[in-house]
Amino acid sequence: MRYRPSPRHTCVAAATASSQRPQRTSPPRQALRWLAALAMLLPAGCDDIATTTAAADASSSDSADGAASTAAVKTWHRDVRPIIAARCAGCHKPGGIGPFDLSTFAAVKKTGAAVKFAIASRAMPPWHAGPEQAYKGDPSLSDAQIATIGSWVDGGMPEGDASQPGPELPDVAEKISRVDLTLGVPVAYTAKDIADDYRCFLLDWPETEELYVTGFNVVPDNKNIVHHVAAFLLSPDALGAAGAMTDLADLAKKEPGPGYACYGGPSGAAELIVPIQQLGQWVPGQQGNDFPTGTGIRVPPGSKIVLQMHYNMDFAKPGPDQTKIQLKLDKPAAIDRKGAFAPWLNAGWIGDLMKIPAGNASVTHEHTADPRGFWKAFVGGVDVSKGFVIHGGLLHMHTLGSWAEAFITRKDGSKVMILRTPKYDFNWQRLYMLTEPIIFHEGDKLTVRCNWDNSAGNQAVIDGKPPGTPKDVYWGEGSLQEMCVANLYISEL
Ligand code: HEC
Repeated sequence: MRYRPSPRHTCVAAATASSQRPQRTSPPRQALRWLAALAMLLPAGCDDIATTTAAADASSSDSADGAASTAAVKTWHRDVRPIIAARCAGCHKPGGIGPFDLSTFAAVKKTGAAVKFAIASRAMPPWHAGPEQAYKGDPSLSDAQIATIGSWVDGGMPEGDASQPGPELPDVAEKISRVDLTLGVPVAYTAKDIADDYRCFLLDWPETEELYVTGFNVVPDNKNIVHHVAAFLLSPDALGAAGAMTDLADLAKKEPGPGYACYGGPSGAAELIVPIQQLGQWVPGQQGNDFPTGTGIRVPPGSKIVLQMHYNMDFAKPGPDQTKIQLKLDKPAAIDRKGAFAPWLNAGWIGDLMKIPAGNASVTHEHTADPRGFWKAFVGGVDVSKGFVIHGGLLHMHTLGSWAEAFITRKDGSKVMILRTPKYDFNWQRLYMLTEPIIFHEGDKLTVRCNWDNSAGNQAVIDGKPPGTPKDVYWGEGSLQEMCVANLYISEL
C-alpha cells in the first residue's frame, strides 16, 4: 500500500521543500518534482503558512485587487482567477514550462495547497532580484494578493459566480516593440534524454552594413523544455575573433547533430577563451525588451552569434526544438549613446584565485575596482572615459551559487545596490532592467560579490549521475566549475 501523508504533515513537508528550493539548484529540483507530484494528491487547506500573512494583510487592499479584496469570502471567479491567469498560467498550462496546469478552476483546486505555499514563500512567480531597486517587468504579487490566495485556499476554494468575474490584472511584462531580424537554431535539435542539456549554436550574422541591436526577444519553440536562452556576440573586431570563430565552428563539426555542448558560457571547451559579449538573456515568462532609448549594441558585418540553449527535462520528455531570437535593429544615426554588456569579474579568478574549498557551505569572493580599464578589452567602442550609465544587468554563477550582488561604492563611502540575488537559482538567471538607471562617476568603485555552498548536501546532479563528493572548485566553463560575473548593460553618459 502507498503511504499517503496526513494533510498537516504534507503541508509542513511541502513548505520545507519550497523554502529550501532556491538555495540549492540540483538536489531541490528533485524535491520540486516530488513536490509537484505531491501537489496533485494534496487535500486543500493547510493551515500553517499563509494564514499569518493572510491575517496580517487582511485589512490592506491594493489597486490591483480592487474592491474585491475587501469582500469577506474570496472566490475563484472574482478574486483568484485574475491573479492566477495573469501571473501563473502563462507558464503553468498544457505545453508550458511549469510542471503542472494552473489554467482552470479544477486544476488550481487540485493543487491549491501547493499554490498557496509557492505564493506565500514568494518562490512563485519566479523573480530573484532583491528589493533595493525597482526593475521593469516585475510580476511579484503584492502582500494583499498573497493574502487573497491564502484565504481562498483556507476557505475551501469556492468557485463563485462566473457571471461576475473580477477585473483582469494589467500585463506587467516588457515587450520588444519591433522585430527586424529573426535568427535561430538552424535545424531542429532534439535534446538529450538527461535532466539538463546545454547546447550552443553558432549562427551567421546576415546583415551587410553596420547596425545596432536595440531590442531582444526569444521565441521558444518547445516550451516544455526550453528553460533559459542566452545570446552572445562574436564581433570580427574583437581581439582573436578570427581564431575563435574557427575554433567554435570546429567544435560544432566534431559533434554529431547540430551545435555543440556548452555550459556556463558559449565557448564549449575549458581551454577555449572566446572574446564574446552578451547580447541578451531570457527565461520563460519574458517577452523581450527594447534597450533603453537611444542606446544599442554595435554589430559589424561578419559577426557571429552564439545561441546558448538550456533544455530541462525534469518534467517533460525531450523533443525537437527550433527556438528563435528576435532582434530590433537600428542604423548608427539612431544611436545617441553606444551600449554594451560589460562583464565585471576579477581576471585573477580565471587564473585559479577563486578557490571554493570542498565541504565549505559558505564561501564568498568579491572584487572591487574602477572597471573601466578592464572593460577596454570588452567594450572598446563604448566611451566610458567620463563615467557610464548602468541600465541593468544579470548575475551569473553555476549550481553551487547561493547569493550574489553588484553594487557601487561612491567616493563618500555610500553604497548603491545595482542588483542583488538573495537566493540564486541557475535556472532562473535573467536580465533585470532598472526603472531608474544608475550613473557611475569618476572616483566610484564597482563590486561584484558571490557566495557559494560547496557542502556535501549541495552537490549538483549532472547528466543524471548522482551527486559526487565535494571537491575544491575553481573558475571554469564546466558544470562542476564555478563563475562569478555581473554582466551589466551599460551605455555612454
Ligand atoms: C515564468 C514561468 C512560471 C510562472 C510565471 C510561474 N511558475 Fe510556478 N513553476 C515554474 C517552473 C518552471 C517550476 C518548476 C520549478 C522551477 O523550475 O523552479 C514551477 C514550480 C511551481 C510549483 C512547485 C513548487 C515550487 O515552489 O517550485 C508551484 C506550486 C508553482 N510553480 C506555482 C506557481 C504559481 C501559484 C504561480 C503564480 C503565482 C506560478 N507558479 C508562476 C514556472 C513558472
